[in-house]
Amino acid sequence: MPCLLSIETSCDETSAAVLSGSGDAVALESLVILSQDVHRVFGGVVPELASRAHVTSIVPVVERALADAGRPMREIDAIAVTYAPGLVGALLVGVSFAKGLAYARGIPVVAVHHLEGHVFAQSLEHAAAVPPFTLLLVSGGHTLIADVPAWGEYTVLGRTRDDAAGEAFDKVAKLLDLPYPGGPHLERLARTGTPGRIRFPRPMLHGGQQTGDRDYYDVSFSGLKTAVKLAIDDLRASGGEWRADVALGFQDALVETLAEKTARAARAFGRGRIVLGGGVACNGALFEAVSVRATKSVASVYAPSPRLATDNAAMIARAGLFRLERGDVAGLDLNAYAARPLPGRAAA
Ligand code: KG4
Ligand code: ZN
Repeated sequence: MPCLLSIETSCDETSAAVLSGSGDAVALESLVILSQDVHRVFGGVVPELASRAHVTSIVPVVERALADAGRPMREIDAIAVTYAPGLVGALLVGVSFAKGLAYARGIPVVAVHHLEGHVFAQSLEHAAAVPPFTLLLVSGGHTLIADVPAWGEYTVLGRTRDDAAGEAFDKVAKLLDLPYPGGPHLERLARTGTPGRIRFPRPMLHGGQQTGDRDYYDVSFSGLKTAVKLAIDDLRASGGEWRADVALGFQDALVETLAEKTARAARAFGRGRIVLGGGVACNGALFEAVSVRATKSVASVYAPSPRLATDNAAMIARAGLFRLERGDVAGLDLNAYAARPLPGRAAA
């Protein structure tokens, strides 16, 4: 049974993990995630600072992951590393480190697509959350709805036409003067809002849509963000306490749109499982909204815990094991890429 060391440095988390196993029978032996605090001061990720912070932390983070697993390097059979998509400078730190270490040890490097990592994340916690399933992947940089008939096979049905779901959360949180990253803060604030007091339009969601329409599965959040901004401008002038109501109104609109479109995909493909992934999968209201719709079609809904929903190396190890067992090994000419299509994509 192979034992993998994995590295994730695509954005502002330096993370390493050790995982062993075969097929869907895996054991996560350790996971270290170091979140870069420096970006909070700037209200967003500063790429150059992210790269520098990865350079400083990668050695101690990897050493700690190995120590927590009780594994010396000689017991590691392969190194899985995120090579795309993400900040190129940040990715390069992980990719270069992985290649150097793998070359020194004479073991293979496995290149992992970050989004494929998110697809595998929930399976580390829920043994039943394996394909076939409907996938809703919602992170700071990506939003997509896909059908997953088997690991490594993705039929992308819908995506965002502009802002990613997490990006929309972060931008609206900023309008509400909440700290970065805003998603969790906005969710907390929304809990104190009065339901129905402020209602925003549901972007690209209306009853007349049919399978085959280009907007049947796609979403769009930039109009919603503008609607929120205009509402805030009016409310500021009127005084009173409205921030929680705006947060709730925004969250309701975004969550209902995503949940409805995900349910459409599950119905269309007759899937009994719906899997949520990416940082926004931490959102309780989203999980609730998807679950309510899933009950009608008797589908089970799975979402990873926050530690595995946001960026982490455990999911990279899990996807890396899948790739390794298929013989997908990278050469030492492996590069990092800001954008790269998800491997195994089939036309919808
Ligand atoms: O997957 P992730 O860690 O990084 C990317 O690959 O982008 O996702 C980060 C995103 C951020 O936009 C953050 O605000 C959002 O996930 N997020 C949430 C929640 N927790 C994290 N959004 C809404 N509600 C949450 N509870
Ligand atoms: Zn991510």
